[in-house]
Amino acid sequence: METVVSGIRPTGNLHLGNYFGAVKSFLQMQNEYNCYFFIADWHSLTTSPKPENIIKSAHTILAEYLACGIDPEKATIYIQSDVKEVLELYLYLNMNAYLGEMERCTTFKEKARKQPDNVNAGLLTYPTLMAADILIHKGVKVPVGKDQEQNMEMARKFARRFNMIYGKEFFPEPASFSLAAQAVKIPGLDGSGKMGKSEGNCIYLMDDAETIRKKVMKAVTDSGPTEPNSPKPEAIQNLFTFLDIVSTKDTYSYFDEKWNDCSIRYGDLKKQIAADIVAFNAPIRERITEYSSNTDLLNKIAKRGAEKAHESANKTIREIREIIGFRS
Ligand code: TYM
Repeated sequence: METVVSGIRPTGNLHLGNYFGAVKSFLQMQNEYNCYFFIADWHSLTTSPKPENIIKSAHTILAEYLACGIDPEKATIYIQSDVKEVLELYLYLNMNAYLGEMERCTTFKEKARKQPDNVNAGLLTYPTLMAADILIHKGVKVPVGKDQEQNMEMARKFARRFNMIYGKEFFPEPASFSLAAQAVKIPGLDGSGKMGKSEGNCIYLMDDAETIRKKVMKAVTDSGPTEPNSPKPEAIQNLFTFLDIVSTKDTYSYFDEKWNDCSIRYGDLKKQIAADIVAFNAPIRERITEYSSNTDLLNKIAKRGAEKAHESANKTIREIREIIGFRS
């Protein structure tokens, strides 16, 4: 059975971008593949979290994974920092990762621009840690959103390079996976770019009805279509993307027709989107609250997940040690 690996950084609550870009695929894949879904707490160190928040933040994502329907009986769910073998592979991969190629990564360049006083080696080697996460289980399918494409390209490069250096087809090349034909990018409602924490434009699974309504009603629009069947400008297309993910096909067609015959009222469109997000979130939100209060259960699931992930990771690392020439 093919192996699937993916992770999310615990830097707050899950938002709709995380859900539709990644978690939704996790839910389907756990039924068909050997899945490892983890919480990337080492990766979150690049944002300098407070020590007292580390475990709490990991538990937040764990509770949200479970609330979304990720099933610990089907998938291995674990916290990255519980599986130390990842660090050993991170070191080996770093030995064959070159400064130039790391510096050229757009996410690194962006981060370096945003925090010029703290351009650290962890930021630079973020892609090798991500590659180690995937390759430690010999993952082949990686459900991620569109924003992770470059990191995935790097992971493939490191896998190929290792195989080349040691003359062995050891690591399979991991590929991004999306339920949709193309990788998903959930936009923000501020008229541009993607939904993201650093963009400050997220709708969270934990948001209540009032918060959702406020966020959606504030979405950027324009003065409306002037000619029938005209293409939708980005901000309007973004609203239709939301309609597409949370509303029914009929609702989508209804508003699409209204757009095409220029009778659309953005207020009605936004009210519909808000109502459908509220309905989508409500049951998940309830379950998040339940799971969050059950620390014993969260600890038990994390421990069991760590054991299973350790077993797989340890097997890979022993093979790697032998290939590199260490006594295993
Ligand atoms: P992170 O924590 O930023 O995001 C988690 C997942 O959510 C997806 N995502 C989106 N998808 C579509 N539209 C959006 N607006 C949107 N915002 C976020 C991301 O693509 C991602 O799938 N580097 C990773 C975490 C990671 C990882 C890994 C992933 C570490 N190791 C190994 C896969 C495999 C990250 O920062 O994701």
